[in-house]
Amino acid sequence: MPHKRRPRYSGKNPRRFTEKYKEHDPAKFPETVQAILAAGKTPAGAHRPIMVQEILDVLRPMPGEFAVDCTLGYGGHALELLHRLQPGGSLIGLDADPIELPRTEKRFRDAGFAPDAFRAHRCNFAGLPKVLALEGGRRADLILADLGLSSMQLDNPARGFSLKFDGPLDMRMNPNKGQSAAILIQRTNVTSLAELFSENADEFYAEQLASALAGTHCQTTLQLGERIRRALPHLSDTEKELSVRRIFQALRIAVNEEFVAIDTLLRALPECLAEGGRVAILTFHSGEDRRVKKAFKAGLLSGVYASAAEEVLRPSAEEMRANSRSKAAKLRWAVRSMGQALGGLHCAESLQTGAHNVF
Ligand SMILES: C[S@@+](CC[C@H](N)C(=O)[O-])C[C@H]1O[C@@H](n2cnc3c(N)ncnc32)[C@H](O)[C@@H]1O
Repeated sequence: MPHKRRPRYSGKNPRRFTEKYKEHDPAKFPETVQAILAAGKTPAGAHRPIMVQEILDVLRPMPGEFAVDCTLGYGGHALELLHRLQPGGSLIGLDADPIELPRTEKRFRDAGFAPDAFRAHRCNFAGLPKVLALEGGRRADLILADLGLSSMQLDNPARGFSLKFDGPLDMRMNPNKGQSAAILIQRTNVTSLAELFSENADEFYAEQLASALAGTHCQTTLQLGERIRRALPHLSDTEKELSVRRIFQALRIAVNEEFVAIDTLLRALPECLAEGGRVAILTFHSGEDRRVKKAFKAGLLSGVYASAAEEVLRPSAEEMRANSRSKAAKLRWAVRSMGQALGGLHCAESLQTGAHNVF
């Protein structure tokens, strides 16, 4: 094998995601990674799980139980759960991301978890009933969903989510499916784009921004940020940045059809949970939290849930200080009632598609 040079960088500290070779290799450079964590930052290529203790408290994993992590990501939450399910328990991890999922699966195998304890499924969590049908029709004792993006996706400019570093305006969690944000902007008319900005991110200047962007060729993330700022000349720099963040969020939600996926998962949850099963959902903006709150409340009223969070749980002040990405997090939970009739899992066509690639 020819020797491959690592990417060069100018100056003392690497700025680009691909140049941060020390952060990408925590086993070889533990001090670098520790220093980054101590500064309240996330090392490149990793993700710090949020509200871990609160999630363990509400999910109460026990040896021998069967768990589902709908949003496996780096596997931080899943690993904490999996340790507590031993001996005899198992966890399946779902993720739509074909780039990060194999890396996470490898980390779990390297940590000694064989397929009888841990299995990964590359799929959208909207297909959870199908996955459970493929898993032998078993219902879960605990289900976790930690919505949104992982730090690996957010920080890697090549994925097209980064506001700081330039990259293709993509934003797909699964780049093999659907259309990129660039194509969406190009093909959507002003009215629909304004609606999308307003509904997905409560953007106050939705119409103004949609008029500036709809039908245009906007190829990179920094180009988009600049066009948003230019379309709002009357605003302060701080207000402009807030609009940039909201428009990125609105586009990401649209590109990945995130609300459709969440609504589908919320409807399917009661049939996916065993009697007495626990579910916890971590959200990062009001559009997500509203949906979870409403679904759990409706489930309580109909009797499919025996109990549910009355108040939303938030990260501790200490966690918010140590990890700025936890600041917006909101956690809600519910417990499946006992003795309520459970419908069959909707498995039909997926049984022929083969495991590990449902969507
Ligand atoms: C916030 S991260 C999860 C991080 C994880 N809890 C950890 O500790 O590393 C969210 C993950 O969910 C995935 N994801 C988001 N929406 C999804 C969906 N509808 N179906 C499957 N995976 C999804 C993303 O690709 C991302 O990897």
